[in-house]
Amino acid sequence: MNIYELIKKKRDGGELSKKEIDYMINGFIKKDIPDYQMAAFLMAVFYKGMTARECVDLTMTMVDSGDRVDLSGISGFKVDKHSTGGVGDTTTLVLAPLVAASGGIVAKMTGRELGHTGGTVDKLESIPGMKVELPKEEFMDIVNRIHVSLIAQTGTLAPADKHIYALRNVTATVDSIPLIAGSIMSKKLAAGSDGIVLDVKTGVGAFMQKYEDALELARTMVDIGEGAGKRVVALITSMEQPLGYAIGNAIEVKEAIDTLSGSGPQDLVDLILELGSNMLLISGVCGSREDARKRIRENIDNKKGLAKLGELIKAQGGNPDVIGNTGLLPQPKKIIEIKAPAGGYVESIDALEVGLSSKVLGAGRKTKDEPIDLSIGIFLKKKVGDEVRKGEPLALFHSDGDSSKVEAAKEKFLNAYRIGPKKISPPRFFYARVSKDGVEELK
Ligand code: URA
Ligand code: CA
Repeated sequence: MNIYELIKKKRDGGELSKKEIDYMINGFIKKDIPDYQMAAFLMAVFYKGMTARECVDLTMTMVDSGDRVDLSGISGFKVDKHSTGGVGDTTTLVLAPLVAASGGIVAKMTGRELGHTGGTVDKLESIPGMKVELPKEEFMDIVNRIHVSLIAQTGTLAPADKHIYALRNVTATVDSIPLIAGSIMSKKLAAGSDGIVLDVKTGVGAFMQKYEDALELARTMVDIGEGAGKRVVALITSMEQPLGYAIGNAIEVKEAIDTLSGSGPQDLVDLILELGSNMLLISGVCGSREDARKRIRENIDNKKGLAKLGELIKAQGGNPDVIGNTGLLPQPKKIIEIKAPAGGYVESIDALEVGLSSKVLGAGRKTKDEPIDLSIGIFLKKKVGDEVRKGEPLALFHSDGDSSKVEAAKEKFLNAYRIGPKKISPPRFFYARVSKDGVEELK
């Protein structure tokens, strides 16, 4: 096989065989194929796309580039959840314990921050003592005992994705449907769960900004997963404005604890009910989405989900007292009010800009191995549709006191807000539910 010919074939819109895809991906991992040829190939895929069959083959080649986690030592249906990346996306911290408290089994491997979005592993590490790098035996033992564990995904799961992602990130080829679908589904399939509920984001803060693209991504991922023998449901939800009020690490753990205590932000609670009920449904724990919703709601109200988070923290070496006292989480040196420059109604909040602003404030990494100040973050006081008076706080910055960072973050943050004179209703949040049976519009 000739690498030049394969690039040309894709460039001209041809369909590659499984053998050709294997040759390309495996050659790249073995460093037989240099970065510049792989980059040209990725750009050809970006422009010409891939057929459904090529998408499945690409995904399976990436799965086979590393280990597959064998979860057969855990009895019952293991259910996973994945979001395509959002700003202030606190859902896993709430969902994993809540689904476990409701009868599901969650053995989840999760990631660190990516681009402008945060990572659940970093958030978990803000809980004092909490260990996220556990040996597999301990992970399985915890899931068998308490039905939930959350650990850091290791580099041995779909290593091809890691190398390809690094190249995509610097060659403007991240936002390609076949490449995103292959990247996400290879890691999910290698992680070994029996079912997966996907939260595909659309809007300014998402990789797929347009609804039609998000729908195609959702369909592609459902097809890949079902084709590999898993139960897969995808929801398409809005990432126009950040989710909930908190964006950061410790600050989102507090938001998760508040949500499990019954005082969560409405958009986050609605999303939890929708994702959680689909997780229970595909697990076979409940016979209908209505029953599943009811059960999740009950386990928020009776605080069984909160108690489960405490068990999870304790099982992974953390201090479970945080669920009753969030003052035990890392605290910021300084809390700074960001005031509204004008009065009116919040028309929009650009989630991407808010995500970047929290990084500028110091809630993210500049290089890939840098530690994060986990106490830094942003707490929104106003969301889309809210009335605001001039000089009223739009947000609180949790800062390390470095005023140059605060000034730079503030400029970005204020640019993200559009305030206008007219009262508007909050934007649409749910778009659709995609399963092997088709697409159902959600209200
Ligand atoms: N998340 C991933 O894991 N991969 C992508 O390509 C995009 C989002
Ligand atoms: Ca949040």
